[in-house]
Amino acid sequence: APDRSLTGKHVLVTAGPTVEALDPVRFLSNHSSGKQGYAIAAAIAEKGAKVTLISGPVKIPAPKSVHVVQVSTAQEMLAACEAALPADAAICTAAVSDWRAKELASSKIKKSSDEPPTLRLVENPDILATLSHHQKRPSLVVGFAAETDDVVENAIAKRLRKGCDWLVANDVRVGVFGAERNQVSLIDSTGVEMWPDMEKTDVAQRLAERVSKFFIPS
Ligand code: C5P
Repeated sequence: APDRSLTGKHVLVTAGPTVEALDPVRFLSNHSSGKQGYAIAAAIAEKGAKVTLISGPVKIPAPKSVHVVQVSTAQEMLAACEAALPADAAICTAAVSDWRAKELASSKIKKSSDEPPTLRLVENPDILATLSHHQKRPSLVVGFAAETDDVVENAIAKRLRKGCDWLVANDVRVGVFGAERNQVSLIDSTGVEMWPDMEKTDVAQRLAERVSKFFIPS
Protein backbone atom coordinates (compact mmCIF):
# COMPACT_ATOMS: atom_id res chain seq x y z
CA ALA A 1 0.00 0.00 0.00
CA PRO A 2 1.26 3.52 -0.68
CA ASP A 3 2.87 5.25 2.30
CA ARG A 4 0.60 8.16 3.25
CA SER A 5 2.28 8.73 6.61
CA LEU A 6 2.48 12.50 6.16
CA THR A 7 -1.29 12.90 5.79
CA GLY A 8 -2.46 15.96 7.72
CA LYS A 9 0.97 17.62 7.69
CA HIS A 10 1.68 20.90 5.92
CA VAL A 11 5.17 21.17 4.45
CA LEU A 12 6.71 24.28 2.96
CA VAL A 13 9.41 23.83 0.32
CA THR A 14 11.43 26.65 -1.25
CA ALA A 15 13.13 25.96 -4.56
CA GLY A 16 14.86 27.47 -7.55
CA PRO A 17 16.83 30.69 -7.83
CA THR A 18 15.68 34.16 -6.92
CA VAL A 19 15.96 36.93 -9.47
CA GLU A 20 16.85 40.43 -8.35
CA ALA A 21 16.31 43.21 -10.89
CA LEU A 22 19.08 45.77 -11.37
CA ASP A 23 17.19 47.86 -13.93
CA PRO A 24 14.23 47.14 -16.25
CA VAL A 25 16.28 44.70 -18.35
CA ARG A 26 19.06 43.31 -16.14
CA PHE A 27 19.08 41.07 -13.10
CA LEU A 28 21.20 39.22 -10.55
CA SER A 29 20.52 35.47 -10.26
CA ASN A 30 22.18 32.04 -10.27
CA HIS A 31 22.16 28.62 -11.96
CA SER A 32 19.76 26.79 -9.64
CA SER A 33 17.59 24.41 -11.70
CA GLY A 34 15.07 23.72 -8.95
CA LYS A 35 15.34 19.96 -9.61
CA GLN A 36 16.24 18.88 -6.07
CA GLY A 37 13.56 21.05 -4.44
CA TYR A 38 10.86 20.01 -6.91
CA ALA A 39 11.73 16.34 -6.38
CA ILE A 40 11.46 16.83 -2.60
CA ALA A 41 8.11 18.59 -2.92
CA ALA A 42 6.83 15.70 -5.07
CA ALA A 43 8.14 12.99 -2.70
CA ILE A 44 6.63 14.69 0.36
CA ALA A 45 3.27 15.19 -1.40
CA GLU A 46 3.25 11.51 -2.37
CA LYS A 47 3.32 10.66 1.33
CA GLY A 48 0.08 12.57 1.79
CA ALA A 49 1.32 15.95 3.06
CA LYS A 50 -0.14 19.20 1.86
CA VAL A 51 2.84 20.85 0.15
CA THR A 52 3.32 24.55 -0.56
CA LEU A 53 6.17 24.93 -3.04
CA ILE A 54 7.48 28.47 -3.13
CA SER A 55 9.53 28.71 -6.25
CA GLY A 56 11.72 31.13 -8.14
CA PRO A 57 11.63 30.91 -11.93
CA VAL A 58 12.62 27.45 -13.21
CA LYS A 59 12.15 25.52 -16.44
CA ILE A 60 10.71 22.33 -14.98
CA PRO A 61 7.04 21.41 -14.54
CA ALA A 62 5.27 21.69 -11.18
CA PRO A 63 4.85 18.35 -9.41
CA LYS A 64 1.27 17.14 -9.19
CA SER A 65 -0.73 17.63 -5.99
CA VAL A 66 1.55 20.49 -4.93
CA HIS A 67 0.45 24.08 -4.43
CA VAL A 68 2.98 26.25 -6.25
CA VAL A 69 3.52 29.90 -5.37
CA GLN A 70 5.69 31.60 -7.96
CA VAL A 71 7.97 34.37 -6.79
CA SER A 72 10.89 36.25 -8.21
CA THR A 73 12.83 38.06 -5.48
CA ALA A 74 14.12 36.94 -2.06
CA GLN A 75 11.80 39.43 -0.37
CA GLU A 76 8.83 37.94 -2.23
CA MET A 77 9.97 34.43 -1.32
CA LEU A 78 10.17 35.33 2.36
CA ALA A 79 6.75 37.02 2.29
CA ALA A 80 5.23 33.97 0.57
CA CYS A 81 6.80 31.66 3.17
CA GLU A 82 5.47 33.71 6.07
CA ALA A 83 2.04 33.86 4.43
CA ALA A 84 2.07 30.05 4.12
CA LEU A 85 2.68 29.52 7.87
CA PRO A 86 1.78 27.65 9.98
CA ALA A 87 3.60 24.62 8.62
CA ASP A 88 4.82 21.44 10.28
CA ALA A 89 8.05 21.43 8.30
CA ALA A 90 9.99 23.81 6.08
CA ILE A 91 12.57 22.57 3.61
CA CYS A 92 14.63 25.39 2.15
CA THR A 93 16.32 24.29 -1.05
CA ALA A 94 16.12 27.63 -2.86
CA ALA A 95 19.31 29.30 -4.03
CA VAL A 96 18.43 32.72 -2.68
CA SER A 97 20.47 35.61 -4.01
CA ASP A 98 22.55 36.91 -1.13
CA TRP A 99 22.19 40.47 -2.39
CA ARG A 100 19.85 42.73 -4.30
CA ALA A 101 20.34 46.18 -5.80
CA LYS A 102 20.26 48.95 -3.20
CA GLU A 103 18.33 51.08 -5.64
CA LEU A 104 16.40 49.67 -8.54
CA ALA A 105 17.20 51.85 -11.60
CA SER A 106 13.92 52.93 -13.13
CA SER A 107 15.44 53.12 -16.60
CA LYS A 108 18.13 51.05 -18.30
CA ILE A 109 21.58 51.81 -16.92
CA LYS A 110 23.45 53.48 -19.79
CA LYS A 111 26.90 52.59 -20.99
CA SER A 112 28.99 55.73 -20.89
CA SER A 113 32.45 56.66 -22.06
CA ASP A 114 33.80 57.01 -18.52
CA GLU A 115 33.88 54.50 -15.69
CA PRO A 116 31.62 51.43 -15.75
CA PRO A 117 28.79 51.80 -13.23
CA THR A 118 29.17 50.69 -9.64
CA LEU A 119 26.42 48.39 -8.45
CA ARG A 120 25.44 49.09 -4.88
CA LEU A 121 24.04 45.98 -3.26
CA VAL A 122 22.29 45.30 0.01
CA GLU A 123 21.92 41.97 1.79
CA ASN A 124 18.75 39.95 1.27
CA PRO A 125 16.86 38.44 4.19
CA ASP A 126 17.92 34.91 5.10
CA ILE A 127 14.72 32.92 4.69
CA LEU A 128 16.03 29.76 6.34
CA ALA A 129 17.33 31.65 9.39
CA THR A 130 14.12 33.69 9.60
CA LEU A 131 11.94 30.56 9.57
CA SER A 132 14.26 28.89 12.11
CA HIS A 133 13.72 31.73 14.58
CA HIS A 134 10.11 32.46 13.70
CA GLN A 135 7.37 32.84 16.25
CA LYS A 136 5.47 30.28 14.16
CA ARG A 137 8.53 28.09 13.63
CA PRO A 138 7.75 24.77 11.96
CA SER A 139 8.72 21.79 14.17
CA LEU A 140 11.22 20.70 11.56
CA VAL A 141 13.34 23.16 9.59
CA VAL A 142 15.74 21.83 6.97
CA GLY A 143 18.40 23.77 5.11
CA PHE A 144 20.64 22.93 2.19
CA ALA A 145 24.20 23.99 1.67
CA ALA A 146 26.21 23.95 -1.49
CA GLU A 147 29.85 23.88 -0.47
CA THR A 148 33.08 23.67 -2.41
CA ASP A 149 35.54 23.07 0.47
CA ASP A 150 35.47 21.37 3.87
CA VAL A 151 31.89 20.40 3.10
CA VAL A 152 30.99 18.73 6.39
CA GLU A 153 32.84 21.17 8.69
CA ASN A 154 31.20 24.15 6.98
CA ALA A 155 27.82 22.46 7.07
CA ILE A 156 28.01 21.73 10.80
CA ALA A 157 28.79 25.39 11.44
CA LYS A 158 26.06 26.50 9.05
CA ARG A 159 23.41 24.37 10.78
CA LEU A 160 24.18 26.10 14.08
CA ARG A 161 24.41 29.55 12.52
CA LYS A 162 21.07 29.22 10.72
CA GLY A 163 19.28 27.59 13.63
CA CYS A 164 17.77 24.83 11.50
CA ASP A 165 17.31 21.21 12.65
CA TRP A 166 18.88 19.43 9.69
CA LEU A 167 21.29 20.62 7.11
CA VAL A 168 21.77 18.74 3.87
CA ALA A 169 25.20 19.52 2.48
CA ASN A 170 26.52 18.82 -0.95
CA ASP A 171 29.82 19.27 -2.70
CA VAL A 172 29.22 21.43 -5.76
CA ARG A 173 32.78 21.27 -7.09
CA VAL A 174 31.63 18.44 -9.31
CA GLY A 175 28.93 20.59 -10.91
CA VAL A 176 25.61 19.60 -9.40
CA PHE A 177 23.71 22.51 -10.93
CA GLY A 178 21.17 21.14 -13.36
CA ALA A 179 22.52 17.59 -12.94
CA GLU A 180 20.39 14.52 -12.20
CA ARG A 181 22.58 13.08 -9.45
CA ASN A 182 23.65 14.38 -6.07
CA GLN A 183 25.86 13.23 -3.20
CA VAL A 184 24.84 14.71 0.11
CA SER A 185 25.51 14.51 3.83
CA LEU A 186 22.72 15.05 6.33
CA ILE A 187 23.76 16.84 9.51
CA ASP A 188 21.55 16.93 12.59
CA SER A 189 22.14 17.45 16.32
CA THR A 190 23.43 13.88 16.66
CA GLY A 191 25.98 13.86 13.87
CA VAL A 192 26.64 13.39 10.18
CA GLU A 193 25.13 10.85 7.80
CA MET A 194 26.90 10.43 4.47
CA TRP A 195 24.50 9.35 1.77
CA PRO A 196 25.81 7.62 -1.34
CA ASP A 197 25.81 9.31 -4.72
CA MET A 198 22.28 8.91 -6.08
CA GLU A 199 19.61 10.41 -8.31
CA LYS A 200 18.11 13.66 -7.02
CA THR A 201 14.75 11.87 -6.98
CA ASP A 202 16.25 9.23 -4.64
CA VAL A 203 17.73 11.92 -2.38
CA ALA A 204 14.19 13.35 -2.27
CA GLN A 205 12.68 9.95 -1.48
CA ARG A 206 15.14 9.28 1.32
CA LEU A 207 14.63 12.75 2.79
CA ALA A 208 10.84 12.33 2.64
CA GLU A 209 11.18 9.05 4.54
CA ARG A 210 13.31 10.74 7.18
CA VAL A 211 10.76 13.56 7.52
CA SER A 212 8.04 10.96 7.94
CA LYS A 213 10.08 9.22 10.68
CA PHE A 214 10.61 12.55 12.42
CA PHE A 215 6.85 12.95 12.82
CA ILE A 216 6.05 9.30 13.49
CA PRO A 217 9.06 7.72 15.25
CA SER A 218 8.82 3.93 14.96
O1 C5P B 1 24.31 30.55 3.60
P1 C5P B 1 23.92 29.70 2.44
O2 C5P B 1 23.36 30.47 1.29
O3 C5P B 1 24.99 28.73 2.01
O4 C5P B 1 22.76 28.79 3.02
C1 C5P B 1 22.06 27.91 2.21
C2 C5P B 1 20.74 27.58 2.84
O5 C5P B 1 20.11 28.76 3.32
C3 C5P B 1 19.76 26.98 1.88
O6 C5P B 1 18.87 26.15 2.61
C4 C5P B 1 19.04 28.20 1.34
O7 C5P B 1 17.76 27.87 0.82
C5 C5P B 1 18.96 29.06 2.57
N1 C5P B 1 18.97 30.50 2.33
C6 C5P B 1 17.81 31.24 2.51
N2 C5P B 1 17.84 32.59 2.34
C7 C5P B 1 18.98 33.23 2.00
C8 C5P B 1 20.16 32.48 1.81
C9 C5P B 1 20.13 31.12 1.97
O8 C5P B 1 16.77 30.65 2.82
N3 C5P B 1 18.97 34.53 1.82
